[in-house]
Amino acid sequence: MVETERAHWGSRIGFILAAAGSAVGLGNIWKFPYITGENGGGAFVLVYLACIAFVGLPIMIAEISLGRATQKSPASAMRSLSPGGGWIGIGWLCILTSVCLLSYYATVAGWALHYCYLAFSGQISGQGPEQLQAAFGSLTATPSLGVAWQLAFMALTVLVVVAGVSHGVERWSRILMPTLAVMLLILLGKAFTLSGFGQGMDFLFGFRADKLTPGGVLEALGHAFFTLSLGMGTMITYGSYLRREDDLVSASVMTSAVDTLVALVASMMLFPIIFTFGLEAGQGPGLLFVTVPIALAQMTGGGLLSIVFFVLLAFAALTSAISMLEVVTAYLMDDWGLSRRRSTVCAGIGIAALGIPATVSTGWFGQIDYYVSNWMLPLGGLGVALFVAWRMDAALRRGAFESGSMLAKFYKGWLWVLKYPVPVAVGLVFLHAVGVL
Ligand code: PHE
Repeated sequence: MVETERAHWGSRIGFILAAAGSAVGLGNIWKFPYITGENGGGAFVLVYLACIAFVGLPIMIAEISLGRATQKSPASAMRSLSPGGGWIGIGWLCILTSVCLLSYYATVAGWALHYCYLAFSGQISGQGPEQLQAAFGSLTATPSLGVAWQLAFMALTVLVVVAGVSHGVERWSRILMPTLAVMLLILLGKAFTLSGFGQGMDFLFGFRADKLTPGGVLEALGHAFFTLSLGMGTMITYGSYLRREDDLVSASVMTSAVDTLVALVASMMLFPIIFTFGLEAGQGPGLLFVTVPIALAQMTGGGLLSIVFFVLLAFAALTSAISMLEVVTAYLMDDWGLSRRRSTVCAGIGIAALGIPATVSTGWFGQIDYYVSNWMLPLGGLGVALFVAWRMDAALRRGAFESGSMLAKFYKGWLWVLKYPVPVAVGLVFLHAVGVL
């Protein structure tokens, strides 16, 4: 059945939970800690926080405003406000980025599912470091295993998205998000009792400017987009299911705050583990999957904690993946007139197939992650910022920002940041990355 009237969120808190569910994901728990480890901690964290507050938040408000004002997904939103203009290219870029990002996101989410299985079947607790190191090695070295879990994860994502906006995405976010918060707090409580807690905090929050490289700044900016789900139309699409009377500015502030808090709490839990057990902070993507089981296996209650931890990770990945698939689904529904079921299944099968190379080749995985995170997401986000700031009808933009908002008085300040500092900052980082500056 083709949905004739646009679906909407069932409640205000439903939108916030869904947006936070999209934002909080592998980016917070898997990626943020390992790139922080690679970039030497403190100074990188500070740059990242500045990127969230001064670039990410204004763009999130812009994306949600654009979605709510047009009630459309990225490409149709651009087309409806700028018919025949080149801006639709930004909409296409958003959809392409969603496809690419979900293709390899499902690889890591598949690892998380595999670790849920290992945890439930008691294959983590009581194991020695060599066995656990070998467990991750054999997962990445056995393509069929990785692909099976990747496909299982994609199937799960399709099932939720097929169920639709308020029944699928919203209902699952309502259950999964609070559970995740509770699980994180349990693990943080555990980390607090470890001897390496102080050293972990010093690594995370001690300012060491000499460790920060220009590449690190690009990575911090790219990660701000990644973690807030910006630059690929997710927030445009989620915003399009918002009602006019909802306060999108407060919802954006809340979503960004929750997302940042989760990344910090995840790191505050991981680094003490790393320092307590003398593990390597800068070891890259394997950080979470190798060091956490090693640490958990040595702790009392490790069996249970490892179940808690990996279920948490899989939950977080699922609520993010559904928001990526929703972009492509909404596009197929809006532009091709397909039913929700058909759009979701077609998109899911296509993306699952495209993800297989990332699962079987770590080289491809690294490349696609680099281009998506550091280039495509910031480019898409910059495009949306420029569109909303310079091209969107002023009255429509103001109405979208102010309607129902407790923070309406910040309209002018927001617009100014979006017009000047945001494009300049993103532009400078790009120029530096291509070696012009
Ligand atoms: N924000 C998600 C995370 O941190 C990833 C994501 C990016 C989700 C872009 C949707 C869109 O894991």
